Amino acid sequence: MDPLTALTEQLDPFPQYRRLRDESPVLFDVQREAWNVFRYDDVQRVLSDHRVFSSQLGGSGGQRQGGLFASSLISTDPPRHRQLRSLVTQAFTPRAVDALGPRIAEIAEELLDRSAGAGEMDLIDDFAYPLPVIVIAELMGIPAVDRDRFRRWSDVVVSQTRAGGVPQGSGGHAEAQAEMGEYFLGMIERRRTEPGDDLISRLLAAQIEGEHLSVPELLGFCALLLVAGNETTTNLLGNAVLTFLERPHLVERLQADADALPAAVEEVLRFRSPVQSMYRIAAQDVTLSGEQIPAGSRLVAWIGSANHDERQFHDPEAFDVARTPNRHLAFGQGIHFCLGAPLARLEARIALTALLKRLPGLALQSQTALERIESSIVFGLKHLPLTWEN
Ligand code: HEM
Repeated sequence: MDPLTALTEQLDPFPQYRRLRDESPVLFDVQREAWNVFRYDDVQRVLSDHRVFSSQLGGSGGQRQGGLFASSLISTDPPRHRQLRSLVTQAFTPRAVDALGPRIAEIAEELLDRSAGAGEMDLIDDFAYPLPVIVIAELMGIPAVDRDRFRRWSDVVVSQTRAGGVPQGSGGHAEAQAEMGEYFLGMIERRRTEPGDDLISRLLAAQIEGEHLSVPELLGFCALLLVAGNETTTNLLGNAVLTFLERPHLVERLQADADALPAAVEEVLRFRSPVQSMYRIAAQDVTLSGEQIPAGSRLVAWIGSANHDERQFHDPEAFDVARTPNRHLAFGQGIHFCLGAPLARLEARIALTALLKRLPGLALQSQTALERIESSIVFGLKHLPLTWEN
């Protein structure tokens, strides 16, 4: 197995990252035609220096793979990026997000009510997946009956990002994007005639220099919010629960002191980053760790490796809730810094508090082998079966 494929399949890719940081911190991968960047300083620069490292991938592949995402915020450079982002920042400020807290808590309790009596559940299917989907769907004004379709679409989109994020070219992916596009087009048309108090209606009403967003831009926003906001938060919850349950003393501590949770969530974000890699295109010739990268090259910034770089973090393979500072790059950096970070943090805090409070004696179902989602971008578990005292 070549070293990069190994990174997408192992539950523990961190020793491999370490070898790559030491031996080939900037590695050209012939098969995927991309420069892979592994050290913290280099990853930070690739993510934040948007003049040199463009996000405008167009149809050239990468995690957004053209299609619906080509005109979205995450695939745009300034000045368009700034304009698009200004339209949605209001909805995602920490203050706006805090107002969602009571509803998030209600959703968490409802989901736990369904499983609590059973004494077991699959954390991913029964809790970590539905929670962020319901939150974002309500924010976007999407009817509850349509939520199940989202899972299939986002699963297909994510599963197409195996092995360095190169599109696999299977029909399923194009089909899922087409269905998602059609669905959102219908939603947009409905909101045009019957606007509501939701994000889609607000985007429809918004204008940049007197012009409304184009239909591809509207579709890009919807698809991005759905995929970027769901899989990532699901995996943060799954990775957090796995990491906590591997350390029973930590579970006890968090059960006794919910105030310790935010720091523990930050450490999960560093330790098992839900997004392991991000793409860029070199807008000019550039040198990174001594390697000369020609203009037009594709780059993969390995966030998962940067967050374990011993040049930045003391004892990086230790899970340390007291780590300060903890300047992880799990939400990116610079102008594309995750718009949903305050929401993801709030959801994680509320969901994990509820879970730890409601389910005494929480444990992993011991006989199960855990499998990772096959993706070079998303880092998370397919399933996480749990039991508790009933
Ligand atoms: C951008 C990670 C949750 C919406 C990003 C980026 C990362 C990231 C690494 C930077 C992309 C780049 O530099 O190219 C995460 C993680 C999450 C999470 C780890 C959960 C733990 C969310 C949520 C939402 C969201 C809940 C929305 C509801 C976005 C958007 C962008 C973005 C719209 C693009 C911002 C821009 O290009 O200006 N996210 N995300 N994310 N994220 Fe998140």
